[in-house]
Amino acid sequence: NTKTFIFDLDGVIVDTAKYHFLAWQRLASQLGIEFTPEHNEELKGVSRVKSLELILAIGNIEASQEDKNKWLIQKNTEYLSYIDDIDQSEILPGVLFVLDYLKKNKHNIVLGSASKNARPILEKTNIMHYFDAIVDGNDVTNAKPDPEVFLQGAKKMNDNPKNCIVFEDSVAGIQAANIANMISIGIGDKEVLQEANFVFPDFTHIDINFIDNLVNR
Ligand code: BG6
Ligand code: MG
Repeated sequence: NTKTFIFDLDGVIVDTAKYHFLAWQRLASQLGIEFTPEHNEELKGVSRVKSLELILAIGNIEASQEDKNKWLIQKNTEYLSYIDDIDQSEILPGVLFVLDYLKKNKHNIVLGSASKNARPILEKTNIMHYFDAIVDGNDVTNAKPDPEVFLQGAKKMNDNPKNCIVFEDSVAGIQAANIANMISIGIGDKEVLQEANFVFPDFTHIDINFIDNLVNR
């Protein structure tokens, strides 16, 4: 009974959501926009380009394509400076245990991330070898909540979406998993991730029984 487990990256596997937030917040404040952690929930899981559009909409700012391109580079440069020296210590608690268990039981393990920086992060944190397939921001044209990223992951494994289980920390990602007809597991705040089929504060709360029940249902 093999399943396909699809992991989001930022905020699920690694503690990088905080760096995206810091970099967006700096840009927003430079543009005179008040950008709160509540606003940031809407940006989680969303592509770089769409994130900038959301921020500009919050500040009611219209900008030229030239300025937008400049700001996208500025944000990414700052983000890259944060992740430049990350290592395994940035992997969130309980994640490696679950990855090991899934690997041992021969399930498919897939990355489904909106980030164009996903591969270097997997390399620096030394977890590339767990993944049977990677779908990231370089592969998709439609940002979450569009299900494209997860459907591509299922396709790479030749698996049916109904046989896929998605771990996500973002509202947009949970919606994408639901639209794809996959089981959605939220990692984070139950209030925020209300639409998920299951929610856990982090991976240390996911035990083997829960995974076995998912696999056998
Ligand atoms: C998602 C993050 O995983 O990737 C977003 O949740 C981020 O915060 C998006 O904006 C795009 O990432 P990147 O690295 O391509 O700018
Ligand atoms: Mg995420």
